[in-house]
Amino acid sequence: MSDKKVRISELLQQMTLTEKIGQMSQLSGNYGKVSEELAAKIRRGQVGSVINEVSLDVINEIQRIAVTESRLGIPLLIGRDVIHGFKTIFPIPLGQAASWNPTLIQHAAHISAVEAASCGINWTFSPMVDISRDPRWGRVAEGFGEDPYLCSELAIAMMQGYQQDNFNGLGAIASCAKHFVGYGASESGRDYCTTNIPESELRNTYMPPFKKLADAGIASFMSSFSDLNGIPASGNEWLLKDILRKEWGYQGFVVSDWESIAQLQIHGLTENDKESAYEAANAGVDMEMVSNTYEKHLRELITENRLSIQQIDSAVSRILSLKHDLGLFDSAYTKQSDYPALANGHHLKLAKDIVLESCVLLENKRQVLPLSLDSLNSVAVIGPLADDGYEQLGTWIFDGDPDYSVTCLDAIKNEVGDSIKINYVKGLQNTRDCSQDEFHSAKEAVLSSDVAIVVLGEESILSGEAHCRADIGLPGAQEALIKTLSSCGRPIILVVMAGRPLTLESILPDIDALLYCWHPGTMGGPAIADLLFGKHSPSGKLPITFPRKIGQIPIYYSQKHSGKPATEDSFIHMNDIPQRAEQTSLGMSATHLDTHFSPLYPFGYGLSYGEFEYRDITTNKQQVRIGEGIEITATVTNTGQLAAVEISQLYIRDLVGNITRPIKELKGFQRNFLQPGETRKLCFSIHTKDLAFYNRKMKLTTEPGLFHVWIGGCSTTKLQAEFEVVK
Ligand code: BGC
Repeated sequence: MSDKKVRISELLQQMTLTEKIGQMSQLSGNYGKVSEELAAKIRRGQVGSVINEVSLDVINEIQRIAVTESRLGIPLLIGRDVIHGFKTIFPIPLGQAASWNPTLIQHAAHISAVEAASCGINWTFSPMVDISRDPRWGRVAEGFGEDPYLCSELAIAMMQGYQQDNFNGLGAIASCAKHFVGYGASESGRDYCTTNIPESELRNTYMPPFKKLADAGIASFMSSFSDLNGIPASGNEWLLKDILRKEWGYQGFVVSDWESIAQLQIHGLTENDKESAYEAANAGVDMEMVSNTYEKHLRELITENRLSIQQIDSAVSRILSLKHDLGLFDSAYTKQSDYPALANGHHLKLAKDIVLESCVLLENKRQVLPLSLDSLNSVAVIGPLADDGYEQLGTWIFDGDPDYSVTCLDAIKNEVGDSIKINYVKGLQNTRDCSQDEFHSAKEAVLSSDVAIVVLGEESILSGEAHCRADIGLPGAQEALIKTLSSCGRPIILVVMAGRPLTLESILPDIDALLYCWHPGTMGGPAIADLLFGKHSPSGKLPITFPRKIGQIPIYYSQKHSGKPATEDSFIHMNDIPQRAEQTSLGMSATHLDTHFSPLYPFGYGLSYGEFEYRDITTNKQQVRIGEGIEITATVTNTGQLAAVEISQLYIRDLVGNITRPIKELKGFQRNFLQPGETRKLCFSIHTKDLAFYNRKMKLTTEPGLFHVWIGGCSTTKLQAEFEVVK
């Protein structure tokens, strides 16, 4: 037996039932002090973990009580939502996803972990890997977008950044795959709502990132708040036992979401807390977050033989195993002087680097960007988000400090120096403001400038948990502000900061360039200024489809074909119908009458200051045997005038399946920095196991047959080849 197993089994033998149930209970901290109640419970061995305590002194003190004053001296897990940074705030995860850069994401997570660990935190509730195709959902900000492949690659990188090499290394902390599973499919994007997801869809779309994190060794899983096909995830035996434990063989532990066990009663699954505790513990939730149904009822459920002591022991040993892996039994205390300073220069530099790669250039009419300092005398900077260090941070920034933020206005002033005049007007007090009182001065500022940089979008509070929107246009009077400014006849450079894709179609005629920056975090300003003034080319690509109108949601690139797919020929715009229309003359295809069937911007899309041409796609064989690999190659050339990074993407389509297959699926991506005129050969390898999907019998299978394959700079690429999978 390994040392770890010996220690855990010795502890289990000594533990009373109260102490075992204690390990399965996570309590909320008292935010900066140690309450007598919490101290007493820790002393009695009734607490396994504390959430939401960030004062190092308090954390060291509660660890001291646990280690020296509780009977068995078991240290605590200290949990916190470190979602996109601790003190240094990186772009929201959806923004990080737009970088398609696992290495940077790993570095950012590492820095977040080191900063959090320096304050005594040893467990983060991140990454969130809920696939979501509904930008109304506020938590879309917190994930990596709509695609299971991209999400998995980036989430693994994030996890490795937190956990490092199996917790070896200064500042490694445990991470948590959440929210298992399907939470991102909440009905109409309202948080916490019901999800109804067919099993094949669950397995092929929603579960893969969780499965990959489980295989890669993520320390914990969090069960979702949401009702999954009639059984809320936190009491879902099929999900937690049959899939996670038996089928996937996951060894880490499962924590509930905040009070989600007690909420089983509110869902109407159970009659009371005792039954909720039973359903959750029996399903396999090892630790209860904050509500206390375990503390109150597990003992009785065991006495009644409804739960076995083996079930409790398994849960406890999984929790102890993580404490061992984190080295907490050797030392539970944190010495801040062992760690680098919070928000130090290196951390801020990385925060800037990741913004440089996460902004997506969506429009650039007549190459108005990059702006050239030589041809400008004055610049108007307008908008409620141009100079707001707090709002640029985004959702989930409990510990972030806006004092470190550098805003667009600060950075633009810095970039242009004294020779160029900056005319700044806020225009609106915040993004929801409907008053037009400052429009006149905003217009004056633009009229007396050569170009206008207009920074609009959503304040932080408009996205995140429980912050969903039914209308995802620019809120308040922002559209009216753009229309007013565009009448000045100066180039309008729109910079958007937001927690989700917004519906922006109606303002496109009024702007000249559109740089989508998500909520960029602490160093948003300097990176955005570098991009606008051409010190760096934008390279981000969309990790989620942008709809034209809310009525198109859900709209995503990997849709399936209907029996009557929409085509340009079948598209009839409602306004074009000249006379009375007969019932059968309205298109007869899978589209809306009142908007084009395409999205505003597709998945994978993003412009650059370079221009990229793809050619010569070919495969190294026409047939690939099951169990073997195939290589697909193409060339990409920067035909533009400026050097830039291009993210090249590989998509496939399985033409015929035992269940119908998506029209495109991402299977690979690469980043390349190309000088003007430079050509690079791209080579992607795929193995036939990468082509597998869960079929009608829920069996993971690669089917023989014809596949299309594409390479390009966006999911709409037309550069296509094909190959056949044979037995
Ligand atoms: C959220 C989780 C979070 C937890 C702890 C819940 O409301 O859904 O994502 O980790 O709170 O703060």
